[in-house]
Amino acid sequence: MRTGIDGLVGDTGLFLETVWSVRPEVFQNGARIPTLLDEGTLWDALEYGSLTYPYVTAFGGTADHGAADRGPASLTRSRWVGGAEVPGFLDPRRVRDAFDAGATLKFNRVDHWHPATRELARGFRDLFHGSVIAHAFLSPAGDEPVIKAHLDGAHVFVLQVSGDKDWVVARPTRDAESGSVFCPEGITDEDRLEFTLSPGDVLYLPHGSAHYALARSGGSLHIAIEVEEPTPEDFVDGFVAGFLSGEENRRPCPGEPRPVPIEECRRVRRDFLSYLAAVPVGEAIGLAEHNIRRRTAD
Ligand SMILES: [Fe+2]
Repeated sequence: MRTGIDGLVGDTGLFLETVWSVRPEVFQNGARIPTLLDEGTLWDALEYGSLTYPYVTAFGGTADHGAADRGPASLTRSRWVGGAEVPGFLDPRRVRDAFDAGATLKFNRVDHWHPATRELARGFRDLFHGSVIAHAFLSPAGDEPVIKAHLDGAHVFVLQVSGDKDWVVARPTRDAESGSVFCPEGITDEDRLEFTLSPGDVLYLPHGSAHYALARSGGSLHIAIEVEEPTPEDFVDGFVAGFLSGEENRRPCPGEPRPVPIEECRRVRRDFLSYLAAVPVGEAIGLAEHNIRRRTAD
């Protein structure tokens, strides 16, 4: 079976059996990764596109270049369109100033507007049936951590597009926070794994694996694909939604004849159990996927 992530994680079946959700791992020879995206495309999107805040955010870098304030007002400008002033467009000059002052630029949801990344995300979605969102990170050269140690609340695939980047990664732990949080205590020596990614490399970080990165000489561009699989709650909500979509289970209209509650309770229980036994797995997965994508604003 070919999938949209073939070639990125070696043998996809073997990856799912032995690595997925278990341990961080680096895969090499993702030949198509360096051709996915380039820095010029990102700057062109800022210059000629219609990107508004927060499609790009900036963090890190030195404060003495006046870049300490990285809020929307520091990165945006208004444009005049059809006689109306439209605020919130990212200002390429201001974004460039932040980058020149050492900030890493995060192109949030680059899959919204970049066709190749969108197609890539679709391949991940087809395989994992969950929420899949993609961000691109453009870092200038430097030795400082581009972001503090943190957890992302999802599985993360880091695709190194250009430049090199050093990563410090912790083995996943069962007691890790499940959401996105910073780890003020950092990463301990016994949990610590270190990887250097070069163009074409893929770093897989299971959910619960703390990490941070260092850009190196020449800067770096990588795409992070975050994957969240459906939870039991997503499946249950999907079953309920599927069951309630039947005409006999719609909410009754006022004045409509209806059975007494005890009869209705018995009928709903009987019909719901029949529905659960008969609903095709593919349909149930589709319903759960719909729920998680709505929940995570994918
Ligand atoms: Fe992260």
